[in-house]
Amino acid sequence: MSDTTENAARAGDEGIESYRESVAAVRELLGGRRVYAYILTFGCQQNEADSEKLAGMAEQMGYTLCDEPDIASLIVVNTCAVREHAEKKALSVIGQFKHCKRRNPGTVIAVCGCMVSQRHRAEELKERYPYVDLSFGTSDLRLFPSLLLERLKGGRRSFTLPPDRPPVPEYMPARRALNYRAWVSIMYGCDNYCSYCIVPYVRGRERSRSPEAVEAEVRGLVESGCLDITLLGQNVNSYGRGCGFGCDFPGLISRLSRIPGDHLLRFMTSHPKDATRELADVMASSGHVARQFHLPAQSGSDRVLSAMNRGYTADEYIGKVSYIREKLPGCVLTSDIMVGFPGETEEDFAATLELMRTVRFDMVYSFIYSPRGGTPAASMPDQVPEDVKGDRMRRLLELQTSISAQINEGLEGRTMRVLCCGPSRTDAGMLECRTEGWKQVLVPAGSLEEGRYADVEITGTGAFTLRGTPADGK
Ligand code: SAH
Ligand code: SF4
Ligand code: F3S
Repeated sequence: MSDTTENAARAGDEGIESYRESVAAVRELLGGRRVYAYILTFGCQQNEADSEKLAGMAEQMGYTLCDEPDIASLIVVNTCAVREHAEKKALSVIGQFKHCKRRNPGTVIAVCGCMVSQRHRAEELKERYPYVDLSFGTSDLRLFPSLLLERLKGGRRSFTLPPDRPPVPEYMPARRALNYRAWVSIMYGCDNYCSYCIVPYVRGRERSRSPEAVEAEVRGLVESGCLDITLLGQNVNSYGRGCGFGCDFPGLISRLSRIPGDHLLRFMTSHPKDATRELADVMASSGHVARQFHLPAQSGSDRVLSAMNRGYTADEYIGKVSYIREKLPGCVLTSDIMVGFPGETEEDFAATLELMRTVRFDMVYSFIYSPRGGTPAASMPDQVPEDVKGDRMRRLLELQTSISAQINEGLEGRTMRVLCCGPSRTDAGMLECRTEGWKQVLVPAGSLEEGRYADVEITGTGAFTLRGTPADGK
């Protein structure tokens, strides 16, 4: 092992002794009784991935996971803070758990995630939510067993704020929801400080897992039959920066591409300022990377992009997209777009629509700007009135819906390989499948098997969904 690898391995073990002791002590306290844990998750895929670890730890401590807060002795709410709405929703749900505690005073209520990594929210929980027992941020997941143990032993309520330099622990087990699809965090935190965004403040400084640890996890997943693996990071393109691994993100992709199997790798999120030609080249030469690229543009106005601290212009963005499309023909391209950033004029918004017309994204996740306390944009002058934001959102959706519908129309009659992902939540009797580019295809249930690849013929299309039938006519 090289020095850096050894250091990374050691760092991955930091705190393991006290972690193990706490897990064992909670197990002993539970004494083999059947006790349930309920975990509720808000937010993005990183929170989903964190919740899989919380679930893994809960099981390791002796809890049985359940879908019903009323029977749970342990309730965990994993929160998001990216927009005001996300925080409001989490707070209102936490409020509802008061009744669970009243019915069963022994229930422990833990709140974790991005929202409670903010001092004012942790204090609010402490003061105004007396039935909440403990809180901790995303960089303190490993402390979950020890914080829980203290409380179970009758210790005080605790509200832990994130440390300045969190470690990158490798010992928390994940309890994955599915066996054919998985998230793998390759790094944590964010150093980009986009002026509107709370994430760097709540998830801390950027830090990467060692390539060895990532490879071992991906290999294990593939060997156990996992078919679709998403590598996660707020900006995967800065993977390994400053870590001395001698492996950047394209290097990691090359390394993971050597793992044999019938699976696909994908990743999110890729920040446009750091998306290199080398990355597209590596994707093109790998037999294992899905032809899908999520590249959040946020705006098409250079003035707004600069005020957002995004580090690229609209032309530079378009240049990157052209290269990706040249190297990866047929690649599905999606984006995040925000409307109503402070000072956004009608002209700026027109530039965003223009960018969308030029690039023709397959799909766009659109957001209305929401001021986040403590971020530079929240105190910028010229906040855009709500009705103007709403109107721009409506126009943006109208344009994107017609573009998505046109692109999808071109797929009619094609035979596409899809991953069958389980019953549709919106269309009864249909199985939700996903193409390589992660477009949704609904196929009559019963005709295909969940967790397998299948070829389907596209028989109908719309802006958001495709419809299909098994290609062999089964
Ligand atoms: N790290 C990723 C995504 C972070 S959050 C990236 O850089 O793309 C996901 C999306 O939420 C962002 O792309 C942005 O469009 C949106 N978002 C972040 N902060 C927001 C805010 N204050 N108001 C509205 N949308 C926001
Ligand atoms: Fe937020 Fe920007 Fe970091 Fe994404 S890259 S998490 S938008 S600060
Ligand atoms: Fe994700 Fe929300 Fe945190 S979007 S990083 S869970 S603030």
